[in-house]
Amino acid sequence: MTDKTQNAMWGGRFAAGPDAIMEAINASISFDQRLAAQDIAGSRAHAAMLAAQGIITDSDAEAIREGLLTVLSEIERGDFPFSAALEDIHMNVESRLKDLIGDPAGRLHTARSRNDQVAVDFRMWVREQTDAAIIGIIALQKALLDQAEAGADWVMPGFTHLQTAQPVTWGHHMMAYVEMLGRDAGRFRDARTRMNESPLGAAALAGTSFPIDRDMTAGALGFDRPAANSLDAVADRDFALEFLSAATICAMHLSRFAEELVIWSSAQFRFVAMSDRFSTGSSIMPQKKNPDAAELIRAKIGRIMGAMVGLFTVMKALPLTYSKDMQEDKEQVFDAADSLMLALAAMDGMVRDMTANRDALKAAAAGGFSTATDLADWLVRELNLPFREAHHVTGTLVALAEKQDCDLPDLSLDDMQKVHRGISRSVFDVLGVENSVASRTSYGGTAPTEVRKQIARWKEMLK
Ligand code: ARG
Repeated sequence: MTDKTQNAMWGGRFAAGPDAIMEAINASISFDQRLAAQDIAGSRAHAAMLAAQGIITDSDAEAIREGLLTVLSEIERGDFPFSAALEDIHMNVESRLKDLIGDPAGRLHTARSRNDQVAVDFRMWVREQTDAAIIGIIALQKALLDQAEAGADWVMPGFTHLQTAQPVTWGHHMMAYVEMLGRDAGRFRDARTRMNESPLGAAALAGTSFPIDRDMTAGALGFDRPAANSLDAVADRDFALEFLSAATICAMHLSRFAEELVIWSSAQFRFVAMSDRFSTGSSIMPQKKNPDAAELIRAKIGRIMGAMVGLFTVMKALPLTYSKDMQEDKEQVFDAADSLMLALAAMDGMVRDMTANRDALKAAAAGGFSTATDLADWLVRELNLPFREAHHVTGTLVALAEKQDCDLPDLSLDDMQKVHRGISRSVFDVLGVENSVASRTSYGGTAPTEVRKQIARWKEMLK
């Protein structure tokens, strides 16, 4: 009965096959073949459940489950004949299964639709990437912890407005990113908890009249439970949006750190030397060593955030439940996940390989009147000045140092006393950068003693 041009999966009511352009816009196999492993796992769990519930025979389920393993190995070997006429991964797999095992293949799609099938496949794929992101983040945190431990007491300038503000320690700066990444990992963990409900068994949208066991398939596929509303289960992609949102925030953190590494590795700063392994040369300027990896990490947010905006735009205003628009959910998520994993790995490698230039950090730490706040605090503590007045006196001393083209510790006691009579020699103790950082012992402050406490806490947490 069936015409060769009809689609073997759904062509019953059609008299003609699709136009070539229709096939081109409709097919997703060029990209959704990335869901092959998830698709086959989902189908194997579904077949086992159908047999356990007496909906298909044990022998049919056995043939289906074995055949699907053969299909998987063909795909993994790279000799699977993907066909655009068969649209997507779901129909490509089922069609090949029919070639391999014959009629029982036709029973696999009982009590199921491509709508719950794609929803379960994509959820499992995103879940895997969520786990991979957490692993990548933890590896980078460990690299940062090593840097922080080595330089817990190395002084460097802390910046606001990219102007020297107050001296901080290298370890403290590294640990700032450990904190940010810790929240990033937390966002991925939260998202994972919410996404871990199985849509399988929602069928097209309304559920099914067959006596299926959704707990069984949910359990077999590592989900915490089946999704409780069949319409919601096939209609939403919020799990992918949460993944992209968490990825965007993480990429933003990586971008900021990458920007700092670009600045710090410049000849003007020389705060860090990047390793040869994570730098490139110039084809015309022989002296150049460019921080390309850092620049590319800095840029990855563009496509990751682009993917997030893209998927939000696809999903907004879609009426329930499934619409074909939702086939446009995958490519950008694939690209965003690849970009994030690569950025995390590259940052991890760069951080492990880079060398801080302790002398340059220290020299810069003392510049820009970075201990002016320490001076003001000294005036409050020792002379009991109100902070506002101490601020003003310190400002006058900074202006004086600027006029004399020197740093605060280079002013003479005489000159200082002309600005305020009460200033004594002990003021010089707080003008040094080492003393400045050592004094900032408030919780979360930059004092090496505090930084070491935070390093120890994180090492314990990441063990
Ligand atoms: N390739 C489709 C997708 O990715 C699978 C679901 C198709 N469902 C349908 N009712 N046409 O969204």
